[in-house]
Amino acid sequence: MGAISNEEIECIENIIEFNKPSNCLEIGVASGWSSGQILKSLQKFTPESTLVGIDFLDYCYWDRTIPVGKYVHSLDYYYKEKYSLFTEHHILSVKEHLENHFEPFDFLFIDANHKHPFPCVDLLFCLSILKETKAIVVLHDINLPFINPQFPSHGVNHLFYELKDCMKFESVSNEFKKSNLGVLFFDFDIYSKQEVAAQLENIIKKFPIEAELSQEYIDRINRRDYGIK
Ligand SMILES: C[S@@+](CC[C@H](N)C(=O)[O-])C[C@H]1O[C@@H](n2cnc3c(N)ncnc32)[C@H](O)[C@@H]1O
Repeated sequence: MGAISNEEIECIENIIEFNKPSNCLEIGVASGWSSGQILKSLQKFTPESTLVGIDFLDYCYWDRTIPVGKYVHSLDYYYKEKYSLFTEHHILSVKEHLENHFEPFDFLFIDANHKHPFPCVDLLFCLSILKETKAIVVLHDINLPFINPQFPSHGVNHLFYELKDCMKFESVSNEFKKSNLGVLFFDFDIYSKQEVAAQLENIIKKFPIEAELSQEYIDRINRRDYGIK
């Protein structure tokens, strides 16, 4: 739990170098450290690309005096120009706006609420705003409860290891001798978004709930209202 490490930054940079995503989305921004690293990689390898950040809070969870995204706002104008930040939002509250005002995303970084079923739900409600053909989803803290038992949140672990409808890669950390960053490569021509959504529903049901969803999320999941074409 916390900001991404140097090894993880290198892994994200490699993914960006080889895949050159054009529209990136990040859920879980905090200080903006990871946002800044993503933006730096975009500038290096695909300088027209943009990043949108979403965070539930408008301050850093460890210090109320630090505004969310502060690190990006300390960078050059170039980075700020390529960056849009939505604070005090979660995916459901901002999804319609993203649908109407942004191009579909081909790179998604999820590092938000790690308790089951939040990571699955974040991805479920992002499916409709991902590109129709291919998208890369990077997950932080896939082995959090095993690396850091004081944070027994299994949501990212369940999502990464249970999902079958994609290719996967995990980055092993020298420090922990275990991976904590997982990458999912979706090809929706092979497994459709509907199939991925059905798998996510199964993973949500399979494991004990660690954090309650709001009624809005529950109602939309019950109606299977994900906005997928
Ligand atoms: C671990 S921090 C992110 C660290 C950041 N990615 C980095 O590496 O610098 C998790 C962040 O997710 C936010 N968060 C938690 N639940 C969320 C949700 N459902 N939607 C959006 N943001 C959420 C928290 O407010 C917190 O700022």
